[in-house]
Amino acid sequence: MASGKGLEGITAGATSLSLVEGEIGRLSYRGYSIRELAEKKTYEEVVYLLWRGELPAPAELAEFNVRFVAERAVPERVVEVLRLLSPDALPMDALRTGVSALGTMLPETQETTIEGALALTARIPTILAAYHRLRLGLEPLAPRADLGHAANYLYMLTGSEPTADQAYAIDRYFILLADHGFNASTFTGRIVASTLSDMCSAVVAGIGVLKGPLHGGAPAEVLKMLTAIGTKENAEAWIRAALARGERLMGFGHRIYKAEDPRADVLRDLAARVAAPERFEFFETVEREALRLLEEAKPGRRLYTNVEYYSAVVLDAVGLPADFFTPTFAASRAAGWAAHVLEQVADNRLIRPTAEWVGVGPRAISEWEPARI
Ligand code: ACO
Repeated sequence: MASGKGLEGITAGATSLSLVEGEIGRLSYRGYSIRELAEKKTYEEVVYLLWRGELPAPAELAEFNVRFVAERAVPERVVEVLRLLSPDALPMDALRTGVSALGTMLPETQETTIEGALALTARIPTILAAYHRLRLGLEPLAPRADLGHAANYLYMLTGSEPTADQAYAIDRYFILLADHGFNASTFTGRIVASTLSDMCSAVVAGIGVLKGPLHGGAPAEVLKMLTAIGTKENAEAWIRAALARGERLMGFGHRIYKAEDPRADVLRDLAARVAAPERFEFFETVEREALRLLEEAKPGRRLYTNVEYYSAVVLDAVGLPADFFTPTFAASRAAGWAAHVLEQVADNRLIRPTAEWVGVGPRAISEWEPARI
């Protein structure tokens, strides 16, 4: 293996946004633990914290909320672009296209400023919900100013106002997924920003990276796995067979966490709140069996439940279609991507690493070789 493969263990820059402590399973944003933020704050407050460095005072929050709500609507031409897409398009591809189109229509999305961050973060749920309704043959719904950012997203998708528990759960989910150190999509966004490109391009790049199953593409796979297992009684046999085939159990393992992912812990509590009791019992049984059998099959690898396992359970329980799990992750993470762009440009240097050479040479072209034109 070339040294530094996957950049594991390499410190690639500095941040004061989120601290991921993998050995002890702790995550904090600007010094506040994720559990405390999820218990006491809203997504809007957390976004303010990420972008500005401090939690807002009540008057600051009120002013920020007014701006956030005012930015939700998307230009009609963005909806027209989404209308042109096939109803079979992957929602992540539709999101990438919609955000890119938005970037050509709203100049502020090009700015690496809080205005640019807001212009994109506020509108991503609207783009997603519009595409979902169009693919169902329905007309997009206008955003509702009386609902929070995450609850309004559920409303625009489903057409009905979420229950208090659903609104609470989706808002917590948005808080928990908002930022996570130098993960692949965030690091990509920082690279884009480091070239002095624009906010929209950084977010579009982040969407492309998040789509991959080793990053944000796992939660729908978790649901597929749970559906395939079907019953509590089948869990052990199914998991044993999957591991014997050399397959990975979706929702387990993490590059950084060598203890339980702290987000999984909060999401498990949320799942208990929104999932039907017998479903929740099934999910817990599968989790228990998976952890036991992973330790048996891969002793000492320290594979624990990651954020995706209970994300899938929570997002399913609040009524999201499985192919909207990763796009919903993107809707939350947009705030983190934007925060990293702001941090990168505030103290910028082009990100341009070197590579270890493993090719042949040096060599010369022999005389008989014909020139190719
Ligand atoms: N199921 C079975 N075995 C696993 C799993 C898993 N979920 N995860 C890791 N392993 C094993 C690997 O087979 C490997 O075993 P080996 O040493 O015998 O070859 C060992 O644990 C180490 O695995 P790596 O692939 O080196 O770990 P890496 O840090 O590169 O991967 C990753 C982390 C991609 C998350 C991995 O754990 C995985 O594929 N998990 C399943 C997919 C998933 O849940 N993704 C969402 C991640 S969370 C997020 O991005 C928000």
